[in-house]
Amino acid sequence: MKAFVVREIDGQLVAEVGDTVAVPQEEGDVLVRVDYSSVNSKDAMVATAPSRVRRVSSLVGGVDASGTVEASRDEFFTEGVRVAVHGGSLGVGRDGGFASHVYAPARHLSLLPSSLSTYDAAVIGTAGFTAMASVLALEDRGLEVGAQVLVTGATGGVGSQAVTYLARKGYAPVASTGSPASSDWLLERGATRVIARDEISDRPERVLASERWDGAIDCVGGETLKEILRSLRYGAAVAASGLVASAELSTTIYPFITRAVALVGIDAVEASSVTRQRVWQALGELAPHVNFTTFVDRVIGLDELLQAFDDIRTSATQGRILVNVNDVTG
Ligand SMILES: NC(=O)c1ccc[n+]([C@@H]2O[C@H](COP(=O)([O-])OP(=O)(O)OC[C@H]3O[C@@H](n4cnc5c(N)ncnc54)[C@H](OP(=O)(O)O)[C@@H]3O)[C@@H](O)[C@H]2O)c1
Repeated sequence: MKAFVVREIDGQLVAEVGDTVAVPQEEGDVLVRVDYSSVNSKDAMVATAPSRVRRVSSLVGGVDASGTVEASRDEFFTEGVRVAVHGGSLGVGRDGGFASHVYAPARHLSLLPSSLSTYDAAVIGTAGFTAMASVLALEDRGLEVGAQVLVTGATGGVGSQAVTYLARKGYAPVASTGSPASSDWLLERGATRVIARDEISDRPERVLASERWDGAIDCVGGETLKEILRSLRYGAAVAASGLVASAELSTTIYPFITRAVALVGIDAVEASSVTRQRVWQALGELAPHVNFTTFVDRVIGLDELLQAFDDIRTSATQGRILVNVNDVTG
């Protein structure tokens, strides 16, 4: 089969479309015929040498995929069912979704609700799963209808979907972006307001900022996450999933002990089967109210992945890049 293969040879990166064979890695791995994969920021990080996320010197890239089970001995994920595949070491330590077929353990599969096509599932991808997991985490902490929720990195995969899912569920997302030209696009996604990245900062001379947000979804980290913690309302929470700006977090204890705020970690990689089904179920329930096509920056073939990685690295995308894995010219 054709696949997008990433190799590190003598410290040099070789990433190209080539011929390879899908092989199971664990007893019980399920074989999925892939319709679509998508480009996530982690995929771009895998395709570097050295890479701080890639765990093997050679693999098929792609941290997520959607398609149909083709061969399985699992009693739940039987042949013919439609699934989303993501997490574990898919695309970072074992062959991933940039190929026509992928093997994955059943625990990394999720059954697609009937309201979601495999195209929709790829638009959602790891980014949308993370966005919905973040929304559910805030709801678990009592988010109320109409609540004003800050979303950072709003034009990205996680951010743009978080904005829409919040809006469709009756909350008031405020989109923070470093891409002012995308304001209209974010308002169309459901943002009630668009603010610049630096507008999150407030009263730097004080330990705590004004109480501004009933909740927040952050995939940026670093100073941004610090500022969010300083400006959450009493009892509010931030769901933190990413580190596009920085993995460092320097803060004080005050937001936690004087405003009872919460920092809730979101992880899509090792999420349990129960969590996966809960999140996909929630996505399926919203599906009739979401036009997934509007999240799509473009649909590419395997041979266009290197350009897509560059665009992700430079934030030159709006929403999601889908990969039609059966479009192979390389
Ligand atoms: N925890 C998990 O399981 C999980 C799952 C998925 C993703 N993630 C992480 O979440 C993050 C976002 O993923 P993604 O797929 O949404 O990435 P993405 O599509 O590249 O979007 C990231 C967005 O962040 C903003 N941004 C970029 N560089 C920035 C900087 N230096 N400072 C502030 N903002 C910046 C940009 O939006 P604006 O131009 O609109 O500001 C960009 O579009 C990544 O760190 C990823 O690894 C984690």
